[in-house]
Amino acid sequence: IAATLRDGPLKGRRILITSGPTHEPIDPVRYIANRSSGAQGTAIARALIALGAEVIFVTGPADAPPPDGAELHRVETAHQMLDACHKVLPVDAAICAAAVADWRVASASSSKMKKDKGGLPKLELAENPDILATLSQLADQRPALVVGFAAETDDVAQNATAKRLRKGCDWIVANDVSPHTGIMGGTENEVTLITAAGAEPWPRMSKGQVAARLATRIAEALVPDAA
Ligand code: CTP
Ligand code: CA
Repeated sequence: IAATLRDGPLKGRRILITSGPTHEPIDPVRYIANRSSGAQGTAIARALIALGAEVIFVTGPADAPPPDGAELHRVETAHQMLDACHKVLPVDAAICAAAVADWRVASASSSKMKKDKGGLPKLELAENPDILATLSQLADQRPALVVGFAAETDDVAQNATAKRLRKGCDWIVANDVSPHTGIMGGTENEVTLITAAGAEPWPRMSKGQVAARLATRIAEALVPDAA
């Protein structure tokens, strides 16, 4: 990879991105998942690579093809995603764009569950590890900058501000994914960047432009004492 790294403000910086959904098995043929194309994480990876970063891309099973030029780690479950993240530390920044399933089936069946067994299956759920919170609260090797996302439908800024404090991350990129916004599944995004300084609403723009602007902000934040 080293030979292909570009010059740019993020040259020499290692940046971890989680992307896509996770799949939590119910049995060998069924799973629990969130809706996520992986488009947002992929766009951010491309924008960071364009600024010279060494991007480590940990992705669940996403529709979007992974970015060229990233170190790729494919995972299935939230636990595997967390393990993969731990293995690639230390990094300068971690961007958690994955739509991690909040729950997994406590004991997935190793053989296919059959309908003709009679009655309905009862799935007992267990909570998955919170990757963003774990990375934000690492005692050793905490990245200098940890960024999370919050897709909300109500009280976006308040919910995202609370989420930032609860998880201990530095920034939250919040957006309103209510159906009337057309953002979910669309090509544009309208986000509010929540930092320690407060809520900064960005104008509506393409998802690629959001990624580029975020990458620029990350580059500014990682410049040692230059600001
Ligand atoms: N996240 C994570 N690991 C999880 C759950 C969430 O890393 N197990 C990250 C996501 O990648 C995102 C941020 O946390 O950056 C917020 O995810 P979200 O689903 O909005 O937050 P939750 O804490 O799961 O709260 P809820 O779904 O109840 O709104
Ligand atoms: Ca969640």
